[in-house]
Amino acid sequence: MGIRIIGTGSYVPDQILTNQALEQMVETSDAWIRERTGIGSRRITKAGTTDMAVKAAKCAVEQAGVLPEELGLIIVGTSTGDCLFPGTACEVQAAIGAKEAACFDLSAACSGFLFSLNTACTYLKSGEYKTALVVGADTLSKTVDWKDRGTCILFGDGAGAAVIRWEDSSGGIGPFIMKADGSRGECLRCSAMPLRNPFLDKEEDVFGYMTMNGQEVFRFAVKTVPEVLEAVLEKAGVLAGDIQYFILHQANERIISSVAKRIRQPVSKFPMNLEHYGNTSGASIPILLDELNRQGKFNRGDKILLAGFGAGLTWGATFLQW
Ligand code: COA
Repeated sequence: MGIRIIGTGSYVPDQILTNQALEQMVETSDAWIRERTGIGSRRITKAGTTDMAVKAAKCAVEQAGVLPEELGLIIVGTSTGDCLFPGTACEVQAAIGAKEAACFDLSAACSGFLFSLNTACTYLKSGEYKTALVVGADTLSKTVDWKDRGTCILFGDGAGAAVIRWEDSSGGIGPFIMKADGSRGECLRCSAMPLRNPFLDKEEDVFGYMTMNGQEVFRFAVKTVPEVLEAVLEKAGVLAGDIQYFILHQANERIISSVAKRIRQPVSKFPMNLEHYGNTSGASIPILLDELNRQGKFNRGDKILLAGFGAGLTWGATFLQW
């Protein structure tokens, strides 16, 4: 028995924000952004996280060929939902008509999809549910200060989704590893609603933009991602050389090539789409997964590693056999 991905979907908004357009907004250049990050453009939503999550979810459910009522569980990995409540997963449920599904959001920033996938697999393994929809959707464009050239060049909006099912077949998803270090939360942070009540001496009514120590986050990623990839390979009893694709969170081309070098694998095994979308946070892994799937890149039995990292700090990796 194993848990398999039976459908994928993704959605990115139409509006494209190029590096050239950013040159008009902050002191930066296309050449600098490309050299330091690999990013050329990103997408900006005018409709929000739920809209994107629903569109990606519909594509995944359609490809999976399941009825919405067959979904027992919906988890949306997001840290930028449109509402504090209801959760994005509940809104997705209503939009696609998945009446039977238990629904909740999972907040793990850029590791959101990976942690949601692992969580959904654990529920499926428990026997509680047979089929689940896992979505990664984020609107980072509303968290960045568009005057801060250190962050506004990096992020974009989007959503990706996967339908997973407990099947009578070998392989599937797992093992996985999930890690966190809350003591380093300050290096990538965005506050939510400020405290507002009549009992405060002074109300804080300013929404805080994202703040980031770029160099510290860079060092964290290039150290922890190779470590967690090696650890999950060992847990799976598989060699790095046996892996067809390493699907990493799309934060920065230099981070991905450094990880490839550290685990001594050719960078050609690390597909990237960050040139077009930037860092879409929890959406980056499922968008890339869907693109590769729809291009017919995966064959049954292919060994794939997923790895995510981001605010928390959080990071993790998942082994799967297609
Ligand atoms: N355009 C032009 N110059 C910029 C710039 C921009 N957008 N942003 C910063 N600079 C300048 C800095 O002010 C600095 O100038 P100085 O030397 O005169 O002080 C110089 O470029 C180098 O800045 P530095 O911060 O050292 O650059 P870097 O090589 O570390 O690249 C990041 C900055 C943000 C691209 C890089 O640190 C990074 O990608 N970190 C990881 C961030 C990330 O992935 N976060 C999400 C994780 S999920």
